[in-house]
Amino acid sequence: MNPKQRAAATALAFIESGMVVGLGTGSTSDYFLQALAAALKAGSLSSIRGVPTSLQSERRARELGIPLATLAQCPHPDITIDGCDEIDPQLDLIKGLGGALLREKVIAQNSKRLIIIADTNKRVQTLGSRSPLPVEVTPFGHEIQHAFFSSLGAIPALRHTPEGTVFITDNGNHIYDLRFKQIDDPRKLEAILQMRAGVVECGLFLAIAERALIADDRQVQDLTR
Ligand code: 5RP
Repeated sequence: MNPKQRAAATALAFIESGMVVGLGTGSTSDYFLQALAAALKAGSLSSIRGVPTSLQSERRARELGIPLATLAQCPHPDITIDGCDEIDPQLDLIKGLGGALLREKVIAQNSKRLIIIADTNKRVQTLGSRSPLPVEVTPFGHEIQHAFFSSLGAIPALRHTPEGTVFITDNGNHIYDLRFKQIDDPRKLEAILQMRAGVVECGLFLAIAERALIADDRQVQDLTR
């Protein structure tokens, strides 16, 4: 097992039959979907419904035979298992390199528990020191956001697909990736971004994660806030 797989497998211990489970997005979450599907097939878990955080995880869950529900049907999932791009010692996060930050944040905020699964490479002392901060913006007027993000001290890059077209999220929006040296005051930055018209959501997940399962080649660390 690689570290991402090991973190994902450990998260299965937090799932009980009958639960509604928020299904994260990304390669680590994909390992969790595989582990969950295997447990359903083996009969060690039953009556699970998954609420996917992206079209990608919805497709993948269908492929694997995981029963699905919408957030409208199940507004407060019992637990959400998701990956991250950075995690600091307070379990504050940067998410969204996979492009799913808006749905991930809506589902995380409405879940009873958010458990993060990741490999040790995602650990940082200060958010923004390794990963850019993804920010979802409306297509209308997105060009003018570049100067605004620069005024915050970031180097902004409008996200493109590998084919060179502008990236479009599941919600029909675009993403700017903001490169900082580090984010000294994530709460202040989040508040500034939330006040800006045209900014839909940012990838700062502050005081939302309850627990993180962080794996290396040998062990899984269980961190709580
Ligand atoms: C997607 C995310 C992912 O959780 C994050 O990018 C981690 O991905 P991976 O598990 O592939 O490293 O936030 O929007």
